[in-house]
Amino acid sequence: MRHFLSTEDWSRNELQSILDRARELRSSPMGDALKGKSVALMFFNPSLRTRSSFDIGVHQLGGHAIILDAQGQTWPVEFEEGAVMDGGPEEHVKEAARVLSRYADLIAIRCFPKFQDWEAEREDPLITAYAKHATVPVINMETIVHPCQELAMMLALQDRHGDVSGKDFLLTWVPHPKPLNTAVANSAVLMASKMGMNVRMLIPDEVYELDERYMDAAERFCGENNARFSVTTNVEEAYAGAHAVYAKSWGALPFYGAWEGEAPYRAKGAGFMIDDAKMALTDNATVSHCLPMRRNVKIADSVVDSPAFLGIEEAENRLHVQKAMMERLVQDSD
Ligand code: CP
Repeated sequence: MRHFLSTEDWSRNELQSILDRARELRSSPMGDALKGKSVALMFFNPSLRTRSSFDIGVHQLGGHAIILDAQGQTWPVEFEEGAVMDGGPEEHVKEAARVLSRYADLIAIRCFPKFQDWEAEREDPLITAYAKHATVPVINMETIVHPCQELAMMLALQDRHGDVSGKDFLLTWVPHPKPLNTAVANSAVLMASKMGMNVRMLIPDEVYELDERYMDAAERFCGENNARFSVTTNVEEAYAGAHAVYAKSWGALPFYGAWEGEAPYRAKGAGFMIDDAKMALTDNATVSHCLPMRRNVKIADSVVDSPAFLGIEEAENRLHVQKAMMERLVQDSD
């Protein structure tokens, strides 16, 4: 039995086979891979795309989805081993995960970090505990990485660019009024590097470097693929010759949980919104974002409304890649 927690655990060939199957499912959407099966979709955070695409995808494969609003509509769960449960939580993950496994054939979880203590949250404790105690595959619908978004992004890039090996991928930090999760940024560099792209990161200051786990993994994957990995604070250098631009905003990890100290560094990126002038420096690049996205803060209207923008295709692809991934997980666990 395999989980789908991070693409780090899946080989390039395995990921490519999921992408290839997603293309088939896009042409022929209905199937029976989940016939007679149930999928529990557990949300600790809001969602439009993830919730819709998983629910509809399960239906299209003949299965049944239950959506659990885990932020108030299910019992609070304790995760600490050996805890004396005399506080808020009414049940332990050991029971919750095993009971859900008796009902559902797959358990999918969205749980963003709490923005309090990165040293603890970088271990992804909630989904790790569910994966440890569940007896069915567990799927990551976004925690500290967003592997379903990665697949959707890569499907959109391959559709537009063909073989992406050796193409230049730019992940650019973009402005946002508040610090956000690093999950999509972590995932973007993981997937682009794994699939052989030259990966560049544009950040306002070195405090915006991602956790070393993802920086190191991206550098390693680039090395294995004879590709380049680099980080810059120079806008012109970053955009020069890029084939694919990916936009994301995130909070600086050194200020995690004490965000007021981040303000002067965030201000350094005030001019980082993607606009026509920056796009003119690229090699006719595409642009994408995981959505939701603040227009004219992260990306200018003129870019979002241009043929270069892949965000809608990427969002549609969530449906196809998740179906292919769920099909694979149930085949592997049958
Ligand atoms: N990109 C993404 O996961 O969208 P939602 O937050 O709407 O699910």
